[in-house]
Parts: sequence; structure tokens; C-alpha cells
Amino acid sequence: MQYNRCYNRNTMKYTVNLTKNRISADGSILGKVNDFKHEMQQHESENLSTYKKHPCMSACDRTSIIHNRHTNKDVEVVMFGSNSYLGATTFPEAIDKAVEVTREFGIGSGGVPLLNGTSIYQNELEQIIAKKSGFDDAILFSSGYTANLGVISGLMRPNHLIIHDKLTHASLLDATVLSSSKMARFRHGDMAGLEKLLRENVDQYPNGILVVTDGVFSMDGDIAKLPEIISIVRKYNALLLIDDAHAVGVIGKKGAGTLSHYNIKDRDNIIVTGTLSKAIGTLGGYITASQDIIDYLRVYARSNIFSTSLPPSVCASAIEVFKKLDNSDVIDKLTENTLYMKNALTEAGFNILNTETPIIPLIVGDSTVLTYMVKDALDSGYFVNAIFAPAVPPNLSRFRISVMASHTKEDIDGLVELMKELFKKYNIPRYAQ
Ligand SMILES: Cc1ncc(COP(=O)(O)O)c(C=O)c1O
Repeated sequence: MQYNRCYNRNTMKYTVNLTKNRISADGSILGKVNDFKHEMQQHESENLSTYKKHPCMSACDRTSIIHNRHTNKDVEVVMFGSNSYLGATTFPEAIDKAVEVTREFGIGSGGVPLLNGTSIYQNELEQIIAKKSGFDDAILFSSGYTANLGVISGLMRPNHLIIHDKLTHASLLDATVLSSSKMARFRHGDMAGLEKLLRENVDQYPNGILVVTDGVFSMDGDIAKLPEIISIVRKYNALLLIDDAHAVGVIGKKGAGTLSHYNIKDRDNIIVTGTLSKAIGTLGGYITASQDIIDYLRVYARSNIFSTSLPPSVCASAIEVFKKLDNSDVIDKLTENTLYMKNALTEAGFNILNTETPIIPLIVGDSTVLTYMVKDALDSGYFVNAIFAPAVPPNLSRFRISVMASHTKEDIDGLVELMKELFKKYNIPRYAQ
């Protein structure tokens, strides 16, 4: 079977092993680098692009041009792998504003916030985000990843406990390691599990417990059960951090996020982080919270104070995107397309887990087979992300389909037909989990 050639013969492990924790068989620093080189060579010899991607030749839009490294040809693909769910990356108003502000302010901000201050656009954007999310104030970071590092390492200490849903994003886990706090995790969405952890630990951690969840889970597309989480968290007097990276611009009133989705008004003891890199279509992350927390973190979130502020043009273009969320039906279009895709896949017998958002998982299971399926999809003109461990458990490798507001019904029908063909070709049950 040709898939076997994708195993690393030395380690007898799957070729697809995107984990950060590789270890060398001989314990050396560079042994793993050498192992990886061999895997990479195998992939290249089979024209697989799992590790080394094809360069993009156009915007990441409904359709995109990529340069196929193996055939040396530019090809147009229908894009089902973009986090720019609303197509905001190419909103004309946002592009025009970015160009105008670049001409006036240049291409960068020139300094870190605590030394140079921040641009008027950054200050305005922070206010827009805070208002939209229902908080007093916000701090912008250069990415959602660094926002998560900043809030957790800024607030949490070794005498504190951080409790995670098992599927929280890698940046929240890395932030927990950076804070040196103790960590505990509950089974995904298991409210009894969360309560048990709080009950068992509340006396041991009188100095404080932080509960952490994604608002929309980035690989499964389901929405955190915030009403239940909040009532449990309040019962034990803990703090709650919600990472709304995939919720802002997607769910809630005019894309206001997960708290708004549930119409939750009370913000006590809640902090929200998010990103501008997904539905908002550009780059940057944020923390939004009460004034006291934000004032503190402006000085003590190290991934902010030791990192350069966003370019003014990025902030100005994000402001235009937020205006468009409020003044157009683009989110409704995304919701309509998401429903259409979900129905089409469900009718075709696929298990799409509990997704309620444009993130639609199709579990394949075997990571090696998935690498071939993704290549076939690309050869058929469809770009879909393949997700491997450690982003998901190794036996739950999957396609991660991202629906966009700009997709046509034909785009969606075409992808569903392709998935049916590929699952048949590789003999993968559509109900796999
Ligand atoms: C849930 C979640 N949080 C945070 C991030 C990091 O955001 P950014 O890409 O802006 O660093 C991501 C991105 O993948 C994410 O999915």
C-alpha cells in the first residue's frame, strides 16, 4: 500500500506529526531535526504539501490562485480554508483606508506601546472593540496568540489554578505554561467535569482560579455553553476567560461574539480575548475587560509592552471592517451559507460533530490518508485545510472546512460532491468519529 511510504521507517511513526514536542531517538538536540528532514524528503518525493505549502499568488478570497510547487503552475482553487469568513480581507473600503493611512503614517508604528504610545487608529479601534463586546476598554496586541499570552501571564501566578476545557486553543495552553500556574482540564463541554474540578480545588487555591474556554471552538466549530459555565464559575467565585477568536464577526448581535450570542449582559469577573486575523480579515489580537484589569494589563502584559504596536493602517482597515459589520448583511450571508453547507453535508450522511458555525469538521481519522485526500482535493480545484495532531487528537485528524459569506451555492455543492467521492475512494466511513 503506497501510504506506508509515508511512515518514518526509523521511528515507525506517522509522517504527519506536526507536534512541537518531537523528541530525538538518541536524546540529542538535533536528532529530531534529522528525522524530520527524512520525512520532509518523503513528502516532497510524493508531491505532498503537508509541511511545505504552495505559495499564494492572490488574496485569500472565495477563489484564490496558488502556485503549485510540484507542477510549477498557477492554479485557481475554490477557497474553503480561509478564516476570513466574511471575506473582509478584500473589503474595498478596508483596502482603500489601509492605502490612505499607509501613505500618511507609513508602513509601521515605529515603537512599543509603553515607549511610543499608540496611533489614533489603534486607540479608536480599542474603543470600538470594547463597546462592541460590552466592556469598558480593550488593549490591542500584534496577534490573538500574544493577547492570550499577555492576559494569562500578566494575571496568573504559580499559586493560582487555571482550568481549561480540553479543546482550548494552543495559545491558551502556552500562556498557562508561561504563567507557571497549575493547570487542570475537563472533558470538552462537560459541565459536571468543570464543576467537579472547581469543587475539588476551591479550598486548595484560595488565591484564585481562572476558567478558560474558547467561545467558538476552533477545530470543532461548536459554541461554549456560556450560561452554564458562567453560573458554575460564579458559584465558586472564579474568573472566566473567553477566547472569542472565531466568534467575533461571526456570532452574536452584528458579530459581537459569544456573550452576545447568549444575550448575556453581566460582565463581572469575565475577560474576553479575540483576534482581528479571522473574520475581521487582517492582523492583531485584543483583550477586552473592565477598566481596572485593562489599566493593569497595559503595563504588565509583557507580550504587549515588549512588542511593537500594530501598523496604523492595519488598525484603520479593521475599523472599516467593524463599520461594515454594523451596516451590511454580510454576517447574514455567512450564516445562510453555513446552514446550506451543514444541511448538504448532513443529508449526504457526514458526521459534522456539533458545529454551529462556519467551521465544519469532517473526521478522517488516519492522518496519512488525509494527506492524500487533501492533495486530491487540491488537484480537483478545492483548497481545504487538513488538521493533524497536536491541533486535534491523533485519531481525529480531519478536514476543517471554512465557509465564507462570498461562497456560491455551486461552490458548496461542488465541495460536498468532492468529499463524497474522496471518502468513497479512500474507504472512510462518513460517520467516522
Ligand atoms: C481560538 C484561537 N485563539 C487564538 C488564536 C490566535 O490568533 P492569531 O492568529 O491572531 O494569533 C487562534 C488562531 O488560530 C485561535 O484559533
